Amino acid sequence: MNNEYIIKGGRPLVGEVSISGAKNAALGIIAASIMADEPVTIENLPCVSDVEVLVSTIEEIGAKVNWTDSHTVTINGSTIKNFCVENDYIRKIRASYYILGALLGKNHSVEVAFPGGCNIGSRPIDQHIKGFEALGAKVSIAHGMIQANAEDLVGNHIYFDVSSVGATINVMLAAVLAKGKTIMENVAKEPHVVDVANFLNSMGANIKGAGTDVIRINGVERLHGTDYSIIPDMIEAGTYMIAAAATKGDILIKNVIPKHLEAVSAKLAEIGCDIQEFDDSVRVIAKARLSHTHVKTLPYPGFPTDMQPQITTLLALSEGTSVVTESVFENRFKFVDELARMGATIKIEGNTAIIDGVNKFSGASMLAPDLRAGAALVIAGLAAEGVSEVGSIEFIERGYETFDEKLRSLGGEIKKIPADDEDEMRRFLLKAV
Ligand code: EPZ
Repeated sequence: MNNEYIIKGGRPLVGEVSISGAKNAALGIIAASIMADEPVTIENLPCVSDVEVLVSTIEEIGAKVNWTDSHTVTINGSTIKNFCVENDYIRKIRASYYILGALLGKNHSVEVAFPGGCNIGSRPIDQHIKGFEALGAKVSIAHGMIQANAEDLVGNHIYFDVSSVGATINVMLAAVLAKGKTIMENVAKEPHVVDVANFLNSMGANIKGAGTDVIRINGVERLHGTDYSIIPDMIEAGTYMIAAAATKGDILIKNVIPKHLEAVSAKLAEIGCDIQEFDDSVRVIAKARLSHTHVKTLPYPGFPTDMQPQITTLLALSEGTSVVTESVFENRFKFVDELARMGATIKIEGNTAIIDGVNKFSGASMLAPDLRAGAALVIAGLAAEGVSEVGSIEFIERGYETFDEKLRSLGGEIKKIPADDEDEMRRFLLKAV
């Protein structure tokens, strides 16, 4: 069923919202869980479609899966017999490729459909393959499938050409049961990479240095069961921070790790927001019109690329001319064409957006091009005058748990309705006026 969000903008978002578990930690951890031959319980999973797809995929290849509630699952990988992961869903989510590292690391043999994911750039996997081959695997790509096999996996010294979240996690998975020592340099330092390393260590792995430029792994014989709770999602938290700023609201964002939000907090404070940090929450207040700034997306701890569409949208409503440079992905400004329909004045030159802030957006009908851009368009609709529609919300539901519910609890006038359901739209509009 195709659904869309219908939004009546113009009201400040005010109140409290609790952040769910980190999607991009959950996906690596779910894949890693099948490396033990004992039950592994994972708590604080976000209730989002990417997680559901990956869990159902490992169940399809034979893992025992038991959901104790919508945020807690117990997985036992000992019953996996099929090392080939090929199904329609798995092509849609990029994180399918973590099964490569997990099954290569555990069984020395795996075949996975070539990964899909948000259309924000070419999304190569050469660094994943470089790491697997450095450990002794033979990797081949044919007929849309990636095959990796190894007689033996032996630790090695691997220097990544680019800082890649996926390659860092995937090669870590392949190395934890390899013979001897692996040193990985120029690795990604994102909190979700650290969370996957901590999870693997709770299963008996020996990983040191996650979160720094160098990860050192001493291979172990086997991994055992564990109970683990996932860290809060820093991108979901940052999205609500910007929603508060864009609607001139006042939101207390609970269940966060403020340190993970530093790049976003600093930028919002710089343009005029009042940011108050507490132990596990952050309050964002924006009363006056915000000012312009420059933003360049970088690997952690730089400004996150997954927050680029959201900050670009906010700066399109701020005073003056701002510049946003997207240095991680080569095609992550597609949503700017949608924002233009609301009156935004943004010029794209290569990987840079030159933004002339406008006083207000007017409601429009838009389509989400990908997960984070979709969330940014919803923020634009909530800040706009009048009514907006955002279609293709399946992208948004890949990574935001009950997005419309959480926004409504903050006073946002947003509803999920079947796309093109005129009656439902009329009812919403009558109620919203
Ligand atoms: C992860 O994608 C996230 N996805 C992305 O979040 C996030 O934008 C990205 O990391 C960067 O933080 C998941 O964790 C499931 P990368 P990933 O490998 O691993 C280049 C979201 O919104 N590269 O760190 O695919 C690549 O082209 C999603 O939740 C290579 O050149 O990102 C890019 O320019 C969107 N060769 C840069 O590295 C490789 O083998 C960073 O990509 C791998 C990557």
